[in-house]
Amino acid sequence: MDSGISIALLGCGVVGSGVMKILKDNQNLIEGKLGFPLHVKRIMVRNLSKARPNYIPADILTDDLSTIEDDDDIKIVCELMGGVSPARDYILRLIRAGKHIVTANKEVLAKHGPELLREAAGNGVSLRFEGSVAGGIPIIKPLAECLAANRITQLMGIINGTTNYILTKMSSEGREFAEVLSEAQEMGYAERDPSADVDGQDAAYKLAILTSIAFGIEARPEDIYTEGIRGITSLDLSYARELGFAVKLLAIAKEYEGKVQARVHPALIPLNHPLASVAGVYNAVFVQGNAVGQLMFYGRGAGSLPTASAVMADLMEAADSIARARPVSALAPMVKRWNGTSCLSRIDEVVTRYYIHLLVIDRPGVLAAIARSFGNAEVSLESVIQKGRGKEPVGLVFVTHRVRERNVQQALEEIRQLPVVVKVANVIRVEGEEA
Ligand SMILES: NC(=O)c1ccc[n+]([C@@H]2O[C@H](COP(=O)([O-])OP(=O)(O)OC[C@H]3O[C@@H](n4cnc5c(N)ncnc54)[C@H](OP(=O)(O)O)[C@@H]3O)[C@@H](O)[C@H]2O)c1
Repeated sequence: MDSGISIALLGCGVVGSGVMKILKDNQNLIEGKLGFPLHVKRIMVRNLSKARPNYIPADILTDDLSTIEDDDDIKIVCELMGGVSPARDYILRLIRAGKHIVTANKEVLAKHGPELLREAAGNGVSLRFEGSVAGGIPIIKPLAECLAANRITQLMGIINGTTNYILTKMSSEGREFAEVLSEAQEMGYAERDPSADVDGQDAAYKLAILTSIAFGIEARPEDIYTEGIRGITSLDLSYARELGFAVKLLAIAKEYEGKVQARVHPALIPLNHPLASVAGVYNAVFVQGNAVGQLMFYGRGAGSLPTASAVMADLMEAADSIARARPVSALAPMVKRWNGTSCLSRIDEVVTRYYIHLLVIDRPGVLAAIARSFGNAEVSLESVIQKGRGKEPVGLVFVTHRVRERNVQQALEEIRQLPVVVKVANVIRVEGEEA
Protein backbone atom coordinates (compact mmCIF):
# COMPACT_ATOMS: atom_id res chain seq x y z
CA MET A 1 0.00 0.00 0.00
CA ASP A 2 3.04 2.31 0.35
CA SER A 3 2.68 3.24 -3.32
CA GLY A 4 -0.76 4.63 -2.55
CA ILE A 5 -4.35 4.26 -3.71
CA SER A 6 -5.65 5.50 -7.04
CA ILE A 7 -8.90 7.41 -7.15
CA ALA A 8 -11.06 9.15 -9.74
CA LEU A 9 -13.49 12.03 -9.70
CA LEU A 10 -16.70 12.37 -11.67
CA GLY A 11 -17.09 16.13 -11.96
CA CYS A 12 -14.63 18.93 -11.42
CA GLY A 13 -16.84 21.93 -10.76
CA VAL A 14 -17.28 23.79 -7.46
CA VAL A 15 -16.83 20.73 -5.23
CA GLY A 16 -14.55 18.64 -7.48
CA SER A 17 -12.02 21.46 -7.83
CA GLY A 18 -12.22 21.96 -4.05
CA VAL A 19 -11.27 18.31 -3.57
CA MET A 20 -8.31 18.77 -5.93
CA LYS A 21 -7.22 21.90 -4.03
CA ILE A 22 -7.30 20.15 -0.66
CA LEU A 23 -5.41 17.19 -2.12
CA LYS A 24 -2.73 19.63 -3.34
CA ASP A 25 -2.57 22.00 -0.35
CA ASN A 26 -2.80 19.33 2.37
CA GLN A 27 -0.94 16.59 0.52
CA ASN A 28 1.67 15.97 3.25
CA LEU A 29 -0.89 16.05 6.03
CA ILE A 30 -3.18 13.58 4.20
CA GLU A 31 -0.31 11.24 3.35
CA GLY A 32 0.97 11.49 6.92
CA LYS A 33 -2.38 10.49 8.36
CA LEU A 34 -3.05 7.67 5.92
CA GLY A 35 0.52 6.43 5.73
CA PHE A 36 0.34 6.38 1.92
CA PRO A 37 -0.51 8.84 -0.87
CA LEU A 38 -3.77 9.23 -2.82
CA HIS A 39 -3.33 9.53 -6.59
CA VAL A 40 -6.03 11.10 -8.73
CA LYS A 41 -5.79 9.01 -11.87
CA ARG A 42 -8.82 10.28 -13.82
CA ILE A 43 -11.29 13.14 -13.68
CA MET A 44 -14.44 12.83 -15.73
CA VAL A 45 -16.03 16.07 -16.96
CA ARG A 46 -18.65 17.02 -19.52
CA ASN A 47 -16.62 19.59 -21.44
CA LEU A 48 -12.95 18.72 -21.98
CA SER A 49 -12.07 22.13 -23.38
CA LYS A 50 -13.36 24.19 -20.45
CA ALA A 51 -10.77 26.35 -18.63
CA ARG A 52 -9.85 24.85 -15.23
CA PRO A 53 -7.64 25.91 -12.31
CA ASN A 54 -3.93 25.17 -12.87
CA TYR A 55 -3.89 22.44 -10.22
CA ILE A 56 -6.19 20.27 -12.39
CA PRO A 57 -3.85 18.24 -14.65
CA ALA A 58 -5.31 18.38 -18.17
CA ASP A 59 -3.87 14.96 -19.09
CA ILE A 60 -6.09 13.08 -16.63
CA LEU A 61 -9.38 14.62 -17.82
CA THR A 62 -11.77 12.30 -19.64
CA ASP A 63 -15.33 12.33 -20.89
CA ASP A 64 -15.51 8.54 -21.06
CA LEU A 65 -16.71 6.67 -17.95
CA SER A 66 -15.25 3.36 -19.15
CA THR A 67 -11.69 4.69 -18.65
CA ILE A 68 -12.56 4.72 -14.94
CA GLU A 69 -14.95 1.76 -14.83
CA ASP A 70 -12.49 -0.59 -16.56
CA ASP A 71 -9.39 0.51 -14.66
CA ASP A 72 -8.87 -2.00 -11.83
CA ASP A 73 -6.22 0.22 -10.34
CA ILE A 74 -8.86 2.84 -9.43
CA LYS A 75 -10.36 1.84 -6.09
CA ILE A 76 -12.45 4.85 -5.06
CA VAL A 77 -14.59 7.20 -7.17
CA CYS A 78 -16.01 10.53 -5.96
CA GLU A 79 -19.24 11.41 -7.76
CA LEU A 80 -19.42 15.20 -7.77
CA MET A 81 -21.56 15.86 -10.85
CA GLY A 82 -24.99 16.27 -9.21
CA GLY A 83 -28.50 15.39 -10.38
CA VAL A 84 -30.01 11.96 -10.90
CA SER A 85 -29.22 11.24 -14.53
CA PRO A 86 -26.62 10.06 -15.38
CA ALA A 87 -25.24 10.12 -11.81
CA ARG A 88 -27.38 7.17 -10.62
CA ASP A 89 -26.41 4.96 -13.56
CA TYR A 90 -22.75 5.87 -13.27
CA ILE A 91 -22.70 5.12 -9.54
CA LEU A 92 -24.39 1.74 -10.13
CA ARG A 93 -21.92 0.84 -12.89
CA LEU A 94 -18.95 1.81 -10.74
CA ILE A 95 -20.26 -0.12 -7.72
CA ARG A 96 -20.65 -3.19 -9.94
CA ALA A 97 -17.08 -2.65 -11.12
CA GLY A 98 -15.99 -2.90 -7.45
CA LYS A 99 -15.29 0.78 -6.78
CA HIS A 100 -15.98 2.40 -3.44
CA ILE A 101 -18.11 5.50 -3.88
CA VAL A 102 -18.05 8.88 -2.21
CA THR A 103 -20.73 11.34 -3.24
CA ALA A 104 -22.05 14.79 -2.26
CA ASN A 105 -25.18 14.33 -4.36
CA LYS A 106 -28.25 14.83 -2.12
CA GLU A 107 -30.77 14.41 -4.94
CA VAL A 108 -29.58 10.99 -6.08
CA LEU A 109 -29.33 9.81 -2.47
CA ALA A 110 -32.73 11.14 -1.42
CA LYS A 111 -34.39 9.50 -4.43
CA HIS A 112 -32.30 6.34 -4.81
CA GLY A 113 -30.32 5.98 -1.54
CA PRO A 114 -31.77 2.60 -0.52
CA GLU A 115 -31.10 1.10 -3.96
CA LEU A 116 -27.53 2.44 -4.09
CA LEU A 117 -26.71 1.31 -0.55
CA ARG A 118 -28.11 -2.16 -1.22
CA GLU A 119 -26.09 -2.43 -4.41
CA ALA A 120 -22.92 -1.28 -2.62
CA ALA A 121 -23.43 -3.79 0.20
CA GLY A 122 -24.12 -6.54 -2.33
CA ASN A 123 -20.85 -5.78 -4.11
CA GLY A 124 -18.77 -5.46 -0.92
CA VAL A 125 -18.00 -1.78 -1.41
CA SER A 126 -18.87 1.34 0.56
CA LEU A 127 -21.01 4.34 -0.32
CA ARG A 128 -20.23 7.43 1.75
CA PHE A 129 -22.03 10.75 1.52
CA GLU A 130 -21.04 13.15 4.30
CA GLY A 131 -20.93 16.10 1.86
CA SER A 132 -24.51 15.56 0.69
CA VAL A 133 -26.09 17.35 3.66
CA ALA A 134 -24.96 20.65 5.17
CA GLY A 135 -21.69 20.85 3.19
CA GLY A 136 -18.75 21.06 5.56
CA ILE A 137 -20.71 20.32 8.73
CA PRO A 138 -20.18 16.76 9.95
CA ILE A 139 -23.71 15.42 10.43
CA ILE A 140 -24.13 12.07 8.61
CA LYS A 141 -21.38 10.30 10.49
CA PRO A 142 -22.31 11.80 13.87
CA LEU A 143 -25.90 10.61 13.39
CA ALA A 144 -25.03 7.19 11.98
CA GLU A 145 -22.11 6.39 14.23
CA CYS A 146 -21.35 8.79 17.09
CA LEU A 147 -25.00 8.88 18.20
CA ALA A 148 -25.73 5.26 17.28
CA ALA A 149 -26.79 4.31 20.81
CA ASN A 150 -29.32 7.15 21.08
CA ARG A 151 -32.97 7.22 20.24
CA ILE A 152 -33.11 10.46 18.28
CA THR A 153 -36.25 12.31 19.34
CA GLN A 154 -35.94 15.34 17.17
CA LEU A 155 -33.79 16.95 14.55
CA MET A 156 -34.24 20.49 13.32
CA GLY A 157 -32.04 22.14 10.78
CA ILE A 158 -31.35 25.20 8.74
CA ILE A 159 -29.93 23.27 5.82
CA ASN A 160 -30.39 25.64 2.91
CA GLY A 161 -28.01 28.60 2.88
CA THR A 162 -29.79 30.53 0.12
CA THR A 163 -33.09 30.78 1.97
CA ASN A 164 -31.36 31.55 5.24
CA TYR A 165 -29.45 34.36 3.55
CA ILE A 166 -32.70 35.77 2.08
CA LEU A 167 -34.63 35.58 5.36
CA THR A 168 -31.73 37.09 7.31
CA LYS A 169 -31.52 40.04 4.89
CA MET A 170 -35.31 40.52 4.81
CA SER A 171 -35.39 40.58 8.59
CA SER A 172 -32.41 42.85 9.23
CA GLU A 173 -33.13 45.31 6.39
CA GLY A 174 -36.94 45.24 6.28
CA ARG A 175 -36.90 44.35 2.56
CA GLU A 176 -39.20 42.09 0.56
CA PHE A 177 -38.49 38.60 -0.77
CA ALA A 178 -38.32 39.41 -4.49
CA GLU A 179 -35.85 42.25 -4.05
CA VAL A 180 -33.51 40.29 -1.76
CA LEU A 181 -33.71 37.24 -4.03
CA SER A 182 -32.59 39.19 -7.09
CA GLU A 183 -29.71 40.72 -5.11
CA ALA A 184 -28.73 37.21 -3.91
CA GLN A 185 -28.77 36.04 -7.54
CA GLU A 186 -26.47 38.90 -8.57
CA MET A 187 -24.07 38.02 -5.75
CA GLY A 188 -24.05 34.33 -6.67
CA TYR A 189 -25.79 33.22 -3.44
CA ALA A 190 -28.87 32.09 -5.37
CA GLU A 191 -29.17 30.18 -8.65
CA ARG A 192 -30.66 31.77 -11.74
CA ASP A 193 -33.53 29.32 -11.31
CA PRO A 194 -33.92 29.59 -7.51
CA SER A 195 -36.95 27.30 -7.16
CA ALA A 196 -35.16 24.25 -5.72
CA ASP A 197 -33.89 26.43 -2.88
CA VAL A 198 -36.71 28.92 -2.24
CA ASP A 199 -39.51 26.34 -2.63
CA GLY A 200 -37.84 24.01 -0.12
CA GLN A 201 -37.00 21.07 -2.43
CA ASP A 202 -33.26 21.16 -1.75
CA ALA A 203 -33.91 21.09 2.01
CA ALA A 204 -36.42 18.24 1.54
CA TYR A 205 -33.79 16.08 -0.23
CA LYS A 206 -31.38 16.68 2.63
CA LEU A 207 -34.06 16.05 5.24
CA ALA A 208 -34.97 12.74 3.57
CA ILE A 209 -31.36 11.62 4.06
CA LEU A 210 -31.14 12.85 7.66
CA THR A 211 -34.51 11.37 8.63
CA SER A 212 -33.63 7.99 7.17
CA ILE A 213 -30.42 7.87 9.16
CA ALA A 214 -31.67 9.38 12.40
CA PHE A 215 -34.95 7.44 12.60
CA GLY A 216 -34.10 4.30 10.63
CA ILE A 217 -37.08 4.63 8.29
CA GLU A 218 -37.27 5.13 4.58
CA ALA A 219 -38.14 8.80 4.19
CA ARG A 220 -38.90 9.56 0.56
CA PRO A 221 -38.69 13.20 -0.53
CA GLU A 222 -42.20 13.02 -2.00
CA ASP A 223 -43.56 12.08 1.44
CA ILE A 224 -42.01 15.12 3.10
CA TYR A 225 -44.37 18.08 3.44
CA THR A 226 -42.52 20.93 1.74
CA GLU A 227 -43.31 24.62 1.77
CA GLY A 228 -40.88 27.36 0.73
CA ILE A 229 -40.35 30.98 1.71
CA ARG A 230 -41.97 32.88 -1.20
CA GLY A 231 -45.00 33.77 0.97
CA ILE A 232 -43.00 35.33 3.82
CA THR A 233 -43.23 39.13 3.98
CA SER A 234 -41.09 41.63 5.84
CA LEU A 235 -44.22 42.50 7.84
CA ASP A 236 -44.47 38.92 9.13
CA LEU A 237 -40.81 39.01 10.05
CA SER A 238 -41.26 42.21 12.03
CA TYR A 239 -44.44 40.96 13.77
CA ALA A 240 -42.64 37.73 14.63
CA ARG A 241 -39.72 39.65 16.10
CA GLU A 242 -42.10 41.76 18.18
CA LEU A 243 -43.53 38.51 19.55
CA GLY A 244 -40.02 37.24 20.39
CA PHE A 245 -39.40 34.99 17.38
CA ALA A 246 -37.15 34.69 14.33
CA VAL A 247 -38.47 33.17 11.09
CA LYS A 248 -36.35 30.41 9.53
CA LEU A 249 -36.86 27.79 6.84
CA LEU A 250 -36.63 24.69 9.01
CA ALA A 251 -36.21 21.06 8.08
CA ILE A 252 -37.80 19.13 10.93
CA ALA A 253 -37.94 15.45 11.79
CA LYS A 254 -39.57 14.49 15.06
CA GLU A 255 -40.99 11.48 16.76
CA TYR A 256 -44.60 12.07 17.75
CA GLU A 257 -47.41 9.70 18.63
CA GLY A 258 -45.44 6.69 17.40
CA LYS A 259 -44.74 8.18 13.98
CA VAL A 260 -42.09 10.39 12.51
CA GLN A 261 -42.97 13.83 11.21
CA ALA A 262 -40.66 15.07 8.46
CA ARG A 263 -41.42 18.49 7.06
CA VAL A 264 -39.79 21.55 5.55
CA HIS A 265 -41.45 24.92 6.00
CA PRO A 266 -40.86 28.40 7.36
CA ALA A 267 -41.27 28.49 11.12
CA LEU A 268 -41.18 30.94 14.00
CA ILE A 269 -38.54 29.97 16.54
CA PRO A 270 -37.90 31.75 19.84
CA LEU A 271 -35.11 34.32 19.59
CA ASN A 272 -33.25 32.49 22.38
CA HIS A 273 -33.25 29.16 20.48
CA PRO A 274 -29.76 28.25 19.20
CA LEU A 275 -31.07 28.11 15.60
CA ALA A 276 -32.43 31.68 15.74
CA SER A 277 -28.95 33.19 15.64
CA VAL A 278 -27.81 31.18 12.59
CA ALA A 279 -27.50 33.98 10.05
CA GLY A 280 -26.72 34.43 6.37
CA VAL A 281 -25.53 31.44 4.36
CA TYR A 282 -24.58 29.45 7.48
CA ASN A 283 -26.27 26.13 8.23
CA ALA A 284 -26.96 24.39 11.51
CA VAL A 285 -28.58 21.17 12.64
CA PHE A 286 -30.02 20.84 16.12
CA VAL A 287 -30.32 17.26 17.34
CA GLN A 288 -31.83 15.77 20.44
CA GLY A 289 -30.97 12.25 21.53
CA ASN A 290 -32.36 10.46 24.58
CA ALA A 291 -28.89 9.81 25.98
CA VAL A 292 -26.80 12.69 24.73
CA GLY A 293 -29.37 15.48 25.18
CA GLN A 294 -29.20 18.47 22.88
CA LEU A 295 -26.48 19.04 20.29
CA MET A 296 -26.00 21.68 17.65
CA PHE A 297 -23.85 21.30 14.54
CA TYR A 298 -23.00 24.63 12.94
CA GLY A 299 -20.88 25.81 10.03
CA ARG A 300 -20.67 26.37 6.31
CA GLY A 301 -23.35 24.33 4.62
CA ALA A 302 -22.03 24.75 1.08
CA GLY A 303 -19.11 26.08 -0.93
CA SER A 304 -16.11 24.57 -2.62
CA LEU A 305 -13.68 23.90 0.25
CA PRO A 306 -16.21 23.26 3.05
CA THR A 307 -18.03 20.63 0.97
CA ALA A 308 -14.73 19.20 -0.30
CA SER A 309 -13.62 18.92 3.34
CA ALA A 310 -16.49 16.46 3.94
CA VAL A 311 -15.80 14.61 0.68
CA MET A 312 -12.13 14.29 1.60
CA ALA A 313 -12.95 12.83 5.02
CA ASP A 314 -15.07 10.14 3.33
CA LEU A 315 -12.36 9.55 0.77
CA MET A 316 -9.67 9.14 3.42
CA GLU A 317 -11.88 6.80 5.45
CA ALA A 318 -12.56 4.67 2.37
CA ALA A 319 -8.82 4.58 1.56
CA ASP A 320 -7.94 3.67 5.15
CA SER A 321 -10.51 0.84 5.12
CA ILE A 322 -9.05 -0.53 1.90
CA ALA A 323 -5.51 -0.34 3.27
CA ARG A 324 -6.45 -2.16 6.45
CA ALA A 325 -8.67 -4.63 4.59
CA ARG A 326 -11.40 -3.84 7.12
CA PRO A 327 -15.07 -4.43 6.40
CA VAL A 328 -15.61 -1.23 4.48
CA SER A 329 -19.21 -0.31 4.86
CA ALA A 330 -19.37 1.61 8.11
CA LEU A 331 -22.93 2.64 7.27
CA ALA A 332 -24.04 -0.85 6.22
CA PRO A 333 -26.64 -1.21 8.99
CA MET A 334 -28.62 1.54 7.29
CA VAL A 335 -29.25 -0.62 4.26
CA LYS A 336 -31.60 -2.84 6.19
CA ARG A 337 -33.25 0.01 7.97
CA TRP A 338 -33.75 1.97 4.76
CA ASN A 339 -35.81 -0.90 3.40
CA GLY A 340 -38.64 -0.16 5.83
CA THR A 341 -41.85 1.40 4.64
CA SER A 342 -42.38 5.10 4.96
CA CYS A 343 -44.24 5.91 8.16
CA LEU A 344 -44.18 9.67 8.09
CA SER A 345 -47.17 11.40 9.55
CA ARG A 346 -49.29 13.71 7.43
CA ILE A 347 -49.05 17.45 7.88
CA ASP A 348 -52.60 17.71 9.23
CA GLU A 349 -51.60 15.41 12.11
CA VAL A 350 -48.90 17.82 13.29
CA VAL A 351 -49.44 19.40 16.70
CA THR A 352 -47.73 22.72 17.30
CA ARG A 353 -48.47 26.42 17.88
CA TYR A 354 -49.43 28.68 14.99
CA TYR A 355 -48.89 32.30 14.05
CA ILE A 356 -51.90 33.47 12.05
CA HIS A 357 -51.95 36.86 10.32
CA LEU A 358 -55.37 38.06 9.10
CA LEU A 359 -56.40 41.23 7.30
CA VAL A 360 -59.84 42.36 8.47
CA ILE A 361 -62.28 45.27 8.26
CA ASP A 362 -62.00 47.25 11.49
CA ARG A 363 -65.53 46.95 12.88
CA PRO A 364 -66.96 46.25 16.35
CA GLY A 365 -67.46 42.53 16.89
CA VAL A 366 -64.77 41.38 14.40
CA LEU A 367 -62.57 39.92 17.06
CA ALA A 368 -65.48 38.11 18.70
CA ALA A 369 -66.55 36.57 15.37
CA ILE A 370 -63.05 35.32 14.61
CA ALA A 371 -62.56 34.05 18.15
CA ARG A 372 -65.83 32.11 17.78
CA SER A 373 -64.57 30.40 14.62
CA PHE A 374 -61.36 29.42 16.38
CA GLY A 375 -63.43 28.14 19.31
CA ASN A 376 -65.70 26.09 17.00
CA ALA A 377 -62.62 24.21 15.76
CA GLU A 378 -61.22 23.87 19.30
CA VAL A 379 -58.29 26.16 18.59
CA SER A 380 -57.37 28.04 21.73
CA LEU A 381 -55.64 31.37 21.43
CA GLU A 382 -52.66 32.46 23.43
CA SER A 383 -52.35 36.04 22.22
CA VAL A 384 -53.70 38.50 19.71
CA ILE A 385 -52.33 41.82 18.57
CA GLN A 386 -53.95 44.38 16.32
CA LYS A 387 -51.84 46.16 13.73
CA GLY A 388 -52.38 49.35 11.71
CA ARG A 389 -55.41 50.79 13.56
CA GLY A 390 -57.19 53.45 11.52
CA LYS A 391 -56.14 51.95 8.18
CA GLU A 392 -58.32 49.54 6.25
CA PRO A 393 -57.90 46.63 6.26
CA VAL A 394 -56.19 46.20 9.63
CA GLY A 395 -53.89 43.37 10.59
CA LEU A 396 -54.78 40.93 13.34
CA VAL A 397 -52.06 38.58 14.49
CA PHE A 398 -52.98 35.54 16.57
CA VAL A 399 -50.72 33.04 18.26
CA THR A 400 -52.44 29.79 19.20
CA HIS A 401 -51.73 27.32 21.95
CA ARG A 402 -50.55 23.87 20.82
CA VAL A 403 -53.20 22.41 18.56
CA ARG A 404 -53.51 19.88 15.75
CA GLU A 405 -53.04 21.36 12.27
CA ARG A 406 -56.33 19.84 11.11
CA ASN A 407 -58.18 22.02 13.65
CA VAL A 408 -56.36 25.14 12.47
CA GLN A 409 -57.30 24.40 8.86
CA GLN A 410 -60.93 23.86 9.92
CA ALA A 411 -60.96 27.21 11.78
CA LEU A 412 -59.41 29.02 8.82
CA GLU A 413 -61.98 27.58 6.44
CA GLU A 414 -64.71 29.18 8.53
CA ILE A 415 -62.74 32.41 9.07
CA ARG A 416 -62.26 32.88 5.31
CA GLN A 417 -66.05 32.95 4.91
CA LEU A 418 -66.55 35.76 7.44
CA PRO A 419 -67.58 38.97 5.61
CA VAL A 420 -65.22 41.05 7.79
CA VAL A 421 -62.18 38.98 6.84
CA VAL A 422 -60.39 40.34 3.76
CA LYS A 423 -57.61 37.78 3.66
CA VAL A 424 -55.67 35.16 5.60
CA ALA A 425 -52.33 36.86 5.00
CA ASN A 426 -50.12 34.14 6.48
CA VAL A 427 -50.05 31.06 8.66
CA ILE A 428 -46.67 30.04 10.04
CA ARG A 429 -45.98 27.18 12.44
CA VAL A 430 -44.16 27.92 15.70
CA GLU A 431 -41.34 25.51 16.59
CA GLY A 432 -38.47 25.02 18.96
CA GLU A 433 -40.12 25.95 22.22
CA GLU A 434 -39.28 22.67 23.90
CA ALA A 435 -35.53 23.34 23.42
N1 LIG B 1 -21.65 23.58 -4.63
C1 LIG B 1 -21.85 23.34 -3.35
O1 LIG B 1 -21.61 24.19 -2.49
C2 LIG B 1 -22.34 21.99 -2.91
C3 LIG B 1 -22.55 21.74 -1.55
C4 LIG B 1 -22.96 20.47 -1.14
C5 LIG B 1 -23.21 19.49 -2.07
N2 LIG B 1 -23.03 19.78 -3.39
C6 LIG B 1 -23.29 18.72 -4.36
O2 LIG B 1 -22.07 18.38 -5.01
C7 LIG B 1 -22.35 17.97 -6.35
C8 LIG B 1 -21.52 18.82 -7.32
O3 LIG B 1 -21.91 20.17 -7.18
P1 LIG B 1 -21.05 21.35 -7.83
O4 LIG B 1 -21.58 22.60 -7.22
O5 LIG B 1 -19.60 21.05 -7.73
O6 LIG B 1 -21.53 21.26 -9.34
P2 LIG B 1 -20.88 21.98 -10.62
O7 LIG B 1 -20.02 23.11 -10.18
O8 LIG B 1 -22.00 22.25 -11.54
O9 LIG B 1 -19.95 20.86 -11.24
C9 LIG B 1 -20.45 19.73 -11.86
C10 LIG B 1 -19.30 18.98 -12.52
O10 LIG B 1 -19.81 17.77 -13.05
C11 LIG B 1 -19.47 17.66 -14.42
N3 LIG B 1 -20.59 17.00 -15.10
C12 LIG B 1 -21.88 17.34 -15.07
N4 LIG B 1 -22.62 16.48 -15.80
C13 LIG B 1 -21.75 15.60 -16.31
C14 LIG B 1 -21.88 14.49 -17.17
N5 LIG B 1 -23.07 14.11 -17.65
N6 LIG B 1 -20.77 13.79 -17.49
C15 LIG B 1 -19.57 14.16 -17.00
N7 LIG B 1 -19.38 15.21 -16.20
C16 LIG B 1 -20.46 15.92 -15.85
C17 LIG B 1 -19.28 19.08 -14.92
O11 LIG B 1 -18.41 19.05 -16.04
P3 LIG B 1 -17.87 20.41 -16.75
O12 LIG B 1 -16.95 21.03 -15.74
O13 LIG B 1 -17.22 19.97 -17.97
O14 LIG B 1 -19.11 21.23 -16.97
C18 LIG B 1 -18.65 19.73 -13.67
O15 LIG B 1 -17.27 19.54 -13.66
C19 LIG B 1 -23.86 18.11 -6.52
O16 LIG B 1 -24.49 16.89 -6.25
C20 LIG B 1 -24.25 19.11 -5.45
O17 LIG B 1 -25.58 18.98 -5.01
C21 LIG B 1 -22.59 20.99 -3.83
